[in-house]
Amino acid sequence: MEVVTTYRILRKEVLAPTLNMFEIEAPLVTKKAKAGQFVILRIHEEGERIPLTIADFDREKGTITCVFQEVGKTTKELGALGEGDFIKDFVGPLGLPSHIEKYGRIACVGGGVGVAPVHPIARALKEAGNEVTGIIGARTKELLFWEDKMRAACSELRVITDDGSYARKGFVTDLLKEVIEEKGDIALCLAIGPLPMMRAVCGLTKQYNLKTFVSLNSIMVDGTGMCGCCRVSVGGETRFACVDGPEFDGHQVDFDEMARRSVIYKPKEQTALERYNSQGAHKCSCNCGGDS
Ligand code: NAD
Ligand code: FES
Repeated sequence: MEVVTTYRILRKEVLAPTLNMFEIEAPLVTKKAKAGQFVILRIHEEGERIPLTIADFDREKGTITCVFQEVGKTTKELGALGEGDFIKDFVGPLGLPSHIEKYGRIACVGGGVGVAPVHPIARALKEAGNEVTGIIGARTKELLFWEDKMRAACSELRVITDDGSYARKGFVTDLLKEVIEEKGDIALCLAIGPLPMMRAVCGLTKQYNLKTFVSLNSIMVDGTGMCGCCRVSVGGETRFACVDGPEFDGHQVDFDEMARRSVIYKPKEQTALERYNSQGAHKCSCNCGGDS
């Protein structure tokens, strides 16, 4: 049996400045992928592992779609790849799938890059017979993406931008409050986006006693429950986002601890990024992880 160790980028789309979408050929991962799961990829042998939530999958084509923001050295390296290029390792699907059942009316909230992972979950919830109100938000018009895909995935979609450059002006929480009060019987809320957004959503839904799931993208290394890097406190207990999540009851998550842990490696990441920027992009043979 041939062991596939490289994964081809079939399609690349630049969704917004520094925001990319890759459709990656990975038939074995695609076969088992479910909404809410993630993959861990490594660009090359010495590369850092990065977890990316599955934004879409096509079982016929055997492809997984991921959306990522170029924020550090590795995601910048990834963003420099194009159609036809290969990714060395692509492991998945990892994590528990979203719990899909018929709840009734559901609000699915995606903030910024979080719109991508919300997409397959909203679609699966709608396919399960729920009435799904999608709420998506971005800082400004040029950062908003997949409005069309979300409109198709949800029963209804509401859009907002922080600066009012497109649709309504404000935060996703403003729309969520309106939806909760207008519908009166929302049974479940799912929210994915930056930590401050998920914390704010949970603060709001707590007031309405509305069950809320959030998807936590904590720092990950192995993705299999061995290293402990992704630990989070949920309901006073330590849980591993990679094997116990990534979705958790948002009202039980210790967001303060998550925020503290999310910046632990910032100085190292900054140094790696500065080195990468100063070296430029050429291939390295000395295992330094650089490109020279
Ligand atoms: P952003 O800062 O542009 O925010 C996106 C939207 O979230 C805003 O437009 C607003 O509507 C809402 N929002 C932000 N802060 C809020 C607050 N305090 N109260 C209410 N609403 C608020 O988002 P971004 O730049 O796309 O986010 C990047 C971050 O998201 C990264 O840190 C990334 O790691 C994280 N992320 C998380 C996941 C996940 O699975 N949890 C997925 C993708 C990205
Ligand atoms: Fe290592 Fe979760 S990433 S335990």
